[in-house]
Amino acid sequence: MPRHFLNILDIPKADAARVLARAKAMKDGGVRTRLLDGKTVILIFEKASTRTRVSFEVAVRHLGGSTVFLTPHESQLGRNEPLKDTARVLSRYADALVVRTFGQEKLDTLVRWGTIPVVNALTDEHHPCQVMSDVLTMFERTPDLGALKVGWVGDGNNMAHSWIEAAAQFGFALTLACPSAYGPDLEVVARATALGARLTLTEDPAEAARDADYLNTDVWASMGQEAEQLRREAAFEGFQLNGTLMALAKPGCKVMHCLPAHRGEEISEAVFEANADTIFDEAENRLHMQKAILEWVFEAL
Ligand code: CP
Ligand code: NVA
Repeated sequence: MPRHFLNILDIPKADAARVLARAKAMKDGGVRTRLLDGKTVILIFEKASTRTRVSFEVAVRHLGGSTVFLTPHESQLGRNEPLKDTARVLSRYADALVVRTFGQEKLDTLVRWGTIPVVNALTDEHHPCQVMSDVLTMFERTPDLGALKVGWVGDGNNMAHSWIEAAAQFGFALTLACPSAYGPDLEVVARATALGARLTLTEDPAEAARDADYLNTDVWASMGQEAEQLRREAAFEGFQLNGTLMALAKPGCKVMHCLPAHRGEEISEAVFEANADTIFDEAENRLHMQKAILEWVFEAL
């Protein structure tokens, strides 16, 4: 049975700590592997990407493998060839799929009909590779993750859902402040809570910011929600990570952002630039963490 990475809870808790340590070791340069020698990973991207695409392509090459990049525009995916047929065809050519798409159910179809591992490179519901990389970014600075208070200010979106699952895996306390009607999926919240996640949901950004060790945000309109931009700008008024909110956080609080950032919307220019070291470490850590995730996926084969 291939091992898949569709959301953060797909990794058993003990493995999650191991993957985190492994990513750090790979970053620190103490680990060499040709794990993917002779193997091919197909990247299927139905949405735009800079970081995820490039960091996966480079990660696979560093591990000795090669990649094929597919979009709907130049493949039969854009002409409605069923995903279940695509899954069966690509499984005969390659060793894993890394997929950025819309609904999570598309990944489920690839898993159901394919015979090779599937890795989630962002869906409408989850962005697990990003948040695992963000957890590595915190871990490098403050290894005792269970002692941290993390705040999320903004949309209860794919990133928020993966943060919620990360809270269950890694033990930090997470307060999410989202405008009414833009909160996270309560099923995701319930599942993580049942696994021990310490979550607080609020509509007050000050509550998320107060005494936070790390503060996080993301765009107000995600990919696929462009038509809602203006409505969302109105709904998210007061949810910008700026100097006023930062004044409530712990001294030394770091701000994280998965990028791309919309300065002047979810984050002020000053707060972004004051935290550029952390934010660009998150981007770098995609490379290291995704190597560790690929290793975890392939060790089951
Ligand atoms: N953070 C992130 O996933 O960036 P890309 O959309 O550029 O891949
Ligand atoms: N929530 C954003 C994340 C981009 C990396 C989106 O889905 O567009």
